[in-house]
Amino acid sequence: MNILLRCPLCHEALTKDAHSFVCAQRHCFDLAREGYVNLLPVQHKRSREPGDSPDMLLSRRTFLEAGYYDGFVGALASALGALNGKRVVDIGCGEGFYARQLCAGAQLVAIDIAKAGVRMAAKKARSSALSVDAEFAVASAAALPLHDDSMDMALSIFSPLHLDEAARVLKTGGRLCIAGAAPKHLRELSEAVYGEVREHAGHGLSADTHAAFELISHRHHREDIVLPHPLPGNLLKMTPYYWQAKPEAQQRIEALDQFSVTLDFDIQLLEKRP
Ligand SMILES: C[S@@+](CC[C@H](N)C(=O)[O-])C[C@H]1O[C@@H](n2cnc3c(N)ncnc32)[C@H](O)[C@@H]1O
Ligand SMILES: [Zn+2]
Repeated sequence: MNILLRCPLCHEALTKDAHSFVCAQRHCFDLAREGYVNLLPVQHKRSREPGDSPDMLLSRRTFLEAGYYDGFVGALASALGALNGKRVVDIGCGEGFYARQLCAGAQLVAIDIAKAGVRMAAKKARSSALSVDAEFAVASAAALPLHDDSMDMALSIFSPLHLDEAARVLKTGGRLCIAGAAPKHLRELSEAVYGEVREHAGHGLSADTHAAFELISHRHHREDIVLPHPLPGNLLKMTPYYWQAKPEAQQRIEALDQFSVTLDFDIQLLEKRP
């Protein structure tokens, strides 16, 4: 029995057996070998393989596991507090790095629209500190396969977020952590791609923009790091700059011996109002 997931078609609770999730109306979703389930109805797919590509996901894993974002992970952990036993959804989990780092002991649901990401996250979870009950689902942030008022915490880390949908699934008093780029994040990478620094405008989401939430804390984490080869190339591939980089800029960044870069993160914690 899984008390967290709901059927994307009829919204009834899903029950898990060895091979699938089934709802009372007999809608059935196969459990993949790696331990994830695809709950993205075809009509919600805008492209054949939505979300980040396997290549981008692998670059992300290589970069994040090299430890250069560990200061950010520490800042996130202190903002979130203990998640042990809590019901947590990681929205846009990618290949699962932050879930593995932050959600040990939680009743976790990790979702992403990219099947390749969810597959990588589910596979790696087996050799991590994540609970064996953690669920991994292909789904959209716009239609979470979760019951109303059911979750204690929602994470959105560098991922698209639908505030109405996050508000729907959180309990009253439940928390939403939105983390992403602050203005100076990766400014040197922006310079290497565009030939000029373009500061981030921020994600434009705050408690003021949504009546359902109250802002609990807002922090920045800033650090300067020096990346050895080949990590500058991995970093480029895990950011939106990758789509905009001309082939020459891409090759130049991939060939760098080392790269000094500014990290500047924004971490907001919001609470769902009664
Ligand atoms: C920049 S990555 C961040 C991944 C992860 N949170 C991390 O920081 O490593 C953004 C992720 O959002 C996913 N994504 C894009 N649109 C989405 C949507 N509508 N619903 C859920 N995930 C989405 C992408 O597939 C990608 O894995
Ligand atoms: Zn159903």
